[in-house]
Amino acid sequence: MAVKYALITGGSRGIGRAIALRLGQEGYRCILTARNVEALEATAQALQNAGAPDAVLIPADLTDGKSIDHLAQQALDASGNQIDVLVNNAGVLYLKPFLELSLSELDEMLAVNFRAVFQLTQRILPAMIQRQHGTIVNIASLAGKNGFKTGTGYGATKWALRGWANSLMLEVREHNIRVVTIFPGSVNTDMAGHSPTAPRRETMIQPEDVAEAVWTAVNVPERTMLSEIDIRPTNPKKA
Ligand SMILES: NC(=O)c1ccc[n+]([C@@H]2O[C@H](COP(=O)([O-])OP(=O)(O)OC[C@H]3O[C@@H](n4cnc5c(N)ncnc54)[C@H](OP(=O)(O)O)[C@@H]3O)[C@@H](O)[C@H]2O)c1
Repeated sequence: MAVKYALITGGSRGIGRAIALRLGQEGYRCILTARNVEALEATAQALQNAGAPDAVLIPADLTDGKSIDHLAQQALDASGNQIDVLVNNAGVLYLKPFLELSLSELDEMLAVNFRAVFQLTQRILPAMIQRQHGTIVNIASLAGKNGFKTGTGYGATKWALRGWANSLMLEVREHNIRVVTIFPGSVNTDMAGHSPTAPRRETMIQPEDVAEAVWTAVNVPERTMLSEIDIRPTNPKKA
C-alpha cells in the first residue's frame, strides 16, 4: 500500500505531538516542523517507539516567510508531492488586557496563527489539487468563535483563521479537498499554563482528545467533510 504523508506544524509538543502520534499509529509518515530540533527529535523517537513510520523532521520558523517556503519545498520533495493531510497546528498565545498587548506580540501571533497558515497552505495546495485529494486541518480555538477579556489579539488571529478556512473550504471542495477546522477550549498543554481563564488541568481537554477528533475527521469517508468541530469538556465543574 502507498505510504500516506501528514505534514504537521508545531509537531514538537502539545497538540501537534499528539496528532503526530495518532496519525503515526494509523500508518501515516509524519513530516514534523517546529523551531526546537531536540523536541522534534523527541517526537520522532516517540513515533519510532510506537512502531509508526519514521518521521521526517524539517525545522522552520513560521514567522519567517523564507523559512516557510523552504519547509514547503522540503515537505513536497520528501513526500514526492503527495501530502495527504496538512495539519496547521502551530500557534502562539499572549493573553493581556488590550492596552498592555504590544504590537510585536500581536505581530507574532498574526504571523504564526494566521499568515503562516495562509502561506504554507498556498504552497501545499497545488499538489493536492493536482491529485484531487487531500485534507487540510486547522487547529483554531473556541477563542475564534467567542470574545473574552484579554483575548483581543489571540482571538482576532483565530477569527481570521476561521474566516479564511470557511472561504477556502468553499473554493476547494470541488477538487475533492476537505478543509476541517477544529475549535478546542482549553487543552492541557504548555500553552494553557499561560491562560488565567483556563480551568484546572484535570478537567481540561487533553491533547490526545484533539488528536482523536483530527483522526475522526481524516478517517470519515472522503465524500464527507467535518468542516467545523467544537471541542469542550463535557463537565468543566467535575470535582
Ligand atoms: N492549549 C490550549 O488551551 C489550546 C486551546 C485551543 C486552541 N489551541 C491551539 O492549538 C494549537 C497548538 O497549541 P498547543 O496547546 O499544543 O501549544 P504549545 O504546546 O505551546 O505548542 C505550540 C507549538 O507551536 C510551535 N511554534 C510556536 N511558534 C512557532 C514558530 N515561530 N515557528 C514554528 N513553530 C512554532 C511550537 O514549537 P517550537 O516552540 O519548537 O517552535 C510548538 O510545537 C495552537 O494553534 C493553539 O492556538 C490551544
